[in-house]
Amino acid sequence: MYDLIVIGAGPGGYEAAAHAARLGKKVALIEKNLMGGTCLNVGCIPAKTFLRSSKLFHECAEAAAYGVKVGSFSLDMPAVVARKNRVVATLTKGVEGMLKRAGVETIAGEARLVARNAVEAGGAKYEAANILLATGSRPAVPPIPGINSPQVLDSDTVFDVKRVPEKVLIIGGGFIGLEFACFFNEIGCKVSVYEMLPQIATGADQEISSRLLQIMKRGGIEFNLSAKVLGIEGNTVQFLDGDGKRGSVAADCILNATGRSPNVKNLGLEELGVDFSPKGVKTSDQGKTNVAGVWACGDVTGRRMLAHAATREGIVAVNNMFGGKDRIRYNAIPAVIYTHPEVASVGRTEEELKSLGVEYKKSVVPMAVAGRYLVENEGGTGMVKVLAGARYGEILGVHAIGNGSSEFIIAAAAMVETEMCVADASDLVFPHPTVSEALREAILGVH
Ligand code: FAD
Ligand code: NAI
Repeated sequence: MYDLIVIGAGPGGYEAAAHAARLGKKVALIEKNLMGGTCLNVGCIPAKTFLRSSKLFHECAEAAAYGVKVGSFSLDMPAVVARKNRVVATLTKGVEGMLKRAGVETIAGEARLVARNAVEAGGAKYEAANILLATGSRPAVPPIPGINSPQVLDSDTVFDVKRVPEKVLIIGGGFIGLEFACFFNEIGCKVSVYEMLPQIATGADQEISSRLLQIMKRGGIEFNLSAKVLGIEGNTVQFLDGDGKRGSVAADCILNATGRSPNVKNLGLEELGVDFSPKGVKTSDQGKTNVAGVWACGDVTGRRMLAHAATREGIVAVNNMFGGKDRIRYNAIPAVIYTHPEVASVGRTEEELKSLGVEYKKSVVPMAVAGRYLVENEGGTGMVKVLAGARYGEILGVHAIGNGSSEFIIAAAAMVETEMCVADASDLVFPHPTVSEALREAILGVH
């Protein structure tokens, strides 16, 4: 009998399992596929290694602006994939070692709940006082005829690309669509994005997403907004544009980036009466499902589909199941889109504050107020926006676009999490010269 069985070894599951084991609990972690889940194998890390290669390739072309003359250079796609595989292998080994040191028992197999305190995997039955569902998500397959054809890639299969395509068509202008648009554009492909909504990066602060759109367009990416993809035939995509007109366009690489679906099937949830829908398993902010002893964290809940949110949710669930009191504050979870330039944000957007009727004051500064930003970025167009409560000046949201913002957004997240006021944040000492000084200037500008 275990204290905890975790199903799924992504950043939600493996961190939760290790945390519980370090608390002295007897823990098993069951994984049907690869250690590290989506994040390590076909998500965060592979995408960022691809983007590192494309950035370097692109920078070679721009090096002269920095006084560096680069001779001839070219992209070796198999070498890009090989480097990605090396990085993934190193990190996966690291996770395996960490779990071993923490004392987690790992079991290979597909798990299914057979009772509120028992699961089956690989023909064996395992019992536990608590079960944590951390089964993650997979690429969504919207009801678009032809979307399942082998020439349509998704975020699982795109990492196997062997050669540089000429023309890439991306369905969806969300996180995945934008990061891959950046990657393919930087390695020299002709990229067009079809997004059915009138903006990209829906959910981001609109001023920031408009700036990103402007910059990516200037970089050569074609965006078709309010354009819904209706069908795919061979290499041709049919769509309905914003004026209600049908059109079609051909591409030699089509990427489905229309969202992700929580893995809720074949888990025995129906039989046990666990409350769930195709949008995910319903959980409280403590990670509880409606069935006592059954908990859930990460993408399977469909709440914030981010690796660090999955980790925090898993740790919160473990703390609560073993007598502690903990909850996740969703408003303080930072998010980053790793395009070039990157977009980093935490807390409420202006649009949210307006719709909630919250009175606020704001400050927006160009990132170029930070000397380091100018040093690092020839012709940079970044900006930082700080939103604070009108009365007390508590920091409610920070939204930034510009390289370096992913590294300082944690400071902003700490401010939002602790409800720090502008007056106190203004006293913080930021290291010089760093891009983070743009955040300081934005804070000082809130009146
Ligand atoms: P997963 O990582 O999906 O892991 C779930 C695991 O459960 C899998 O290994 C699966 O095999 C296993 N499993 C499922 N069912 C069973 C079963 N019945 N029995 C046993 N095992 C099972 N997030 C970020 O924060 N930053 C990023 O930069 C970022 N980039 C991304 C890029 C891409 C291309 C994609 C696709 C996603 C990205 N994400 C990013 C999202 C991030 O990958 C997910 O939010 C995160 O992996 C969720 O973690 P998880 O533990 O909930 O699930
Ligand atoms: P997403 O939800 O961010 O974007 C999907 C987009 O596809 C939406 O804007 C939607 O309007 C559009 N769309 C859907 N159907 C369409 C159609 N028929 N025609 C045209 N457009 C259509 O989902 P995405 O990009 O697939 O990413 C899934 C999740 O993975 C993200 O929400 C995020 O949580 C996570 N992720 C995080 C990353 C990060 O943290 N940097 C990077 C990549 C993924």
